[in-house]
Amino acid sequence: MVKVMVVVGSVRPVRIGLPIGEWVRDAALADGRFEVDFCDLKELDLPFMDEPKHPRLHEYSQPHTLAWSERVASTDAFIFISPEYNYGYSPALKNAIDHLFVEWNRKPVAFVSYGGASSGSRGVAALRPVMAATGMVAAMAGVEITFVRQHVHEGVFTPADAHTTALTTVLDELALLGPTLGELRQTLTAGQAAAAR
Ligand SMILES: Cc1cc2nc3c(=O)[nH]c(=O)nc-3n(C[C@H](O)[C@H](O)[C@H](O)COP(=O)(O)O)c2cc1C
Repeated sequence: MVKVMVVVGSVRPVRIGLPIGEWVRDAALADGRFEVDFCDLKELDLPFMDEPKHPRLHEYSQPHTLAWSERVASTDAFIFISPEYNYGYSPALKNAIDHLFVEWNRKPVAFVSYGGASSGSRGVAALRPVMAATGMVAAMAGVEITFVRQHVHEGVFTPADAHTTALTTVLDELALLGPTLGELRQTLTAGQAAAAR
């Protein structure tokens, strides 16, 4: 089983991100290839990044960072549920990313983005350099949901066929990338350990 974390990147009251995250979570669970960790950043409730040292050093001082580190470190792949705010990404999502570093390295991530006219694609475009900085490997597949409000009624997201097809492609890619990049990380770790001897 590939351990995937579905991260709800929006923390506003009555956010659309929650029903979308629930749709993604349920699809991943029904798929059968994934162990799913549903991470609602509103529940996680991280403060603004408050570590004195660069996360690259992995010397955390705050209990919330240590708990977040453990949770992300034990995950093989990520699906970021990504709203678009003013042509950019969710600050809560960026904050959660910025808390850590090595825990993200060489792990696959796919985006399920949404917005008004843009389908959240500009927010994802802005996130891609952030992914590069953390060493995350962005999947080719993604889900883009235009005029998202039309698909949510009474707190439930009802996907169009194109959304379901795109999510299936995302899950297929993460099912491949998860184990493949896991092997790569082990090789690199062994290699780095050998170099240090
Ligand atoms: C502060 C703010 C800025 C927004 N900027 C954009 C935008 O640049 N492009 C867009 O397509 N939608 C934009 N929207 C619409 C959001 O995509 C839409 O409200 C969506 O539901 C936000 O996700 P959330 O409900 O999960 O927070 C914006 C909404 C807010 C509240």
